[in-house]
Amino acid sequence: MEILRTLDELRAYRHKISGYVGLVPTMGALHEGHLSLIKKSFSDNDVTIVSIFVNPAQFAPHEDFDSYPRQLEEDCKKLDRLNVDAVWAPSMAEIYPKDFHTSVKVSGITEILEGSFRPHFFEGVTTIVNKLFMQIQPDRAYFGEKDYQQLKVIQKMVRDLNIAVDVIGCPIVRDDQGLALSSRNAYLSDEQISIAQRLNKIIKQAGDVLKAGSIKQAELALKDELMSSGFTKVDYVALRNAYDLSEVYGLQDDIEIRVLVAAYLGPVRLIDNMALN
Ligand code: PAJ
Repeated sequence: MEILRTLDELRAYRHKISGYVGLVPTMGALHEGHLSLIKKSFSDNDVTIVSIFVNPAQFAPHEDFDSYPRQLEEDCKKLDRLNVDAVWAPSMAEIYPKDFHTSVKVSGITEILEGSFRPHFFEGVTTIVNKLFMQIQPDRAYFGEKDYQQLKVIQKMVRDLNIAVDVIGCPIVRDDQGLALSSRNAYLSDEQISIAQRLNKIIKQAGDVLKAGSIKQAELALKDELMSSGFTKVDYVALRNAYDLSEVYGLQDDIEIRVLVAAYLGPVRLIDNMALN
């Protein structure tokens, strides 16, 4: 496995390879969720490149950029064992030199849900993902439904800018209790993990809860249930159109609904989502 650290090394590598190239962008601290995207890329492509870069532009000043888990050596060992072709692990200066002054911003879908609580987040994500696409020129790129809105924002960016990359969404990988795997779960105590494991069970009830009332009532009922289960704050519980996350006003045969949640356990913010069953 090649470990590429500079743009020159990446360019030389890109010229050397041929066939379909799959990219899996990550911030490292790799777990089975990330590995599932890599395995999907293996099955679709001739070459799979994994990027590892903790992107400061998508963290607000009060967020966990400094404490975000960094374990490049361990990650590279995992990727090598899987037979990944190359890892793109650039330095900060390579990605954001001192005179860096450009960003990519998608409007609309970035201003709701995650975007209303983390206003700089999506611009940081679309800027780095666009850079990764320009640097690597992959045919396909793999993103998890774990970050459902992120996936939708990247698909919108690619459509709007006619970027020649197929963006492929992959299902959420969960633990045996249904908790969505996340690098941030490492921040949770054992007691908090058992509360966190209730999150998926609560959102799974959305379909039944909706039978008893309106969309707004269902959202409020699920929020109450999260708070009484031990979550300390709920940013949102939202039942939305799965295609573009626009609001829905009830069940409709031709509209798929997605249930999306962001909730806190102390300082740790968890997100999860599910198709309404
Ligand atoms: P990161 O949080 O490291 O996630 C990398 C990719 O793994 C994302 O597409 C995410 O949705 C996916 N992923 C994480 N947990 C998952 C799970 N349990 N099941 C399935 N997929 C999962 O998302 C980012 O990094 C960054 O925003 C990035 C896109 C790399 C841009 O910096």
